[in-house]
Amino acid sequence: MPENITPASQVLDRVLVLEMVRVTEAAAIAASHLIGRGDEKAADHAAVEAMRKAFDTLYMDGTVVIGEGERDEAPMLFIGEKVGGAPGKGPKIDIALDPLEGTTITAKAGPNSLAVLAAAEEGGLLNAPDVYMDKLAVGPGYPEGIIDLDKTPTENVKAVAAAKGVKPEDIIVCVLDRPRHEALIAELRGLGCGVVLIGDGDVAGVIAVTDEDTTIDMYMGSGGAPEGVLAAAALRCVGGQFNGRLLFRNDDERARARKWGIEDLNKVYKLHDLAKGDCIFAATGVTSGSLLEGVKRRKGGKMTTESVVMRASSGTVRWIKGEHRI
Ligand code: FBP
Repeated sequence: MPENITPASQVLDRVLVLEMVRVTEAAAIAASHLIGRGDEKAADHAAVEAMRKAFDTLYMDGTVVIGEGERDEAPMLFIGEKVGGAPGKGPKIDIALDPLEGTTITAKAGPNSLAVLAAAEEGGLLNAPDVYMDKLAVGPGYPEGIIDLDKTPTENVKAVAAAKGVKPEDIIVCVLDRPRHEALIAELRGLGCGVVLIGDGDVAGVIAVTDEDTTIDMYMGSGGAPEGVLAAAALRCVGGQFNGRLLFRNDDERARARKWGIEDLNKVYKLHDLAKGDCIFAATGVTSGSLLEGVKRRKGGKMTTESVVMRASSGTVRWIKGEHRI
């Protein structure tokens, strides 16, 4: 390796961990101008543009592995796009990103929209196609294998309740509020569980299982596969368990998965299958929620942000409050 190329792990450690927050902050601030304005596309576009520009300030040779879509679908931050200010020279980093996770939430000024990214050494993140993923997650402190996507929701709730030393009716499960989850919600309510229904934003929904203050024990149900990789990167850093299985609605989606090198279409992915090696997760709140405060416009032309950045190899979690003069 030429001397001017720094090994990725060293750079993840020393420089990029904190620098990643600049990128999510820039996207969150840009999107914040569109909170509650009813225009999902404009909010997403503002976040994408700002995030793209902010990447150029980082010393890395980055590649987007999860982004805004394929090359012909997205004008920037498409899959395969090179990002970073040191192409060919800096450390090779793979990036999974969602400049605005929760476009509808932002447009409606709801809770928990985020600017979010995960970064890993080259090859560390699953190139997840933009299909649905069935997700099951639990927070830290449980025996390995306590959750299993091949078991029923009832079996999983009972296993977690037994390990926690409570009754199934004491378990709280977060689920995306979608007609496709009617049977799941009915099964959970039949057990007496508390079901926290969220309108959107399952990255924050999955991460909620790691925070005792949310009182959420488990996450269940299907959402975007890219969001599954982002949430898995966060759980790699703070602990917890995750199972995910890609869901295909047609042959076109199956073909897309094969194109990204996925051979076993029924595989149950665990944390290390989705984000392996050292990895970073960074997020800035756009609107306030269980994970982060949103962007706030203050008197005197200031804006404040709240971000979190975590790293898998050390387990360090940093909460960063930013004050920005606009
Ligand atoms: P967007 O920010 O792309 O709108 O995604 C929001 C989201 O709620 C994700 O958090 C979730 O994974 C996905 O949409 C669920 O998809 P659907 O709305 O089709 O159920």
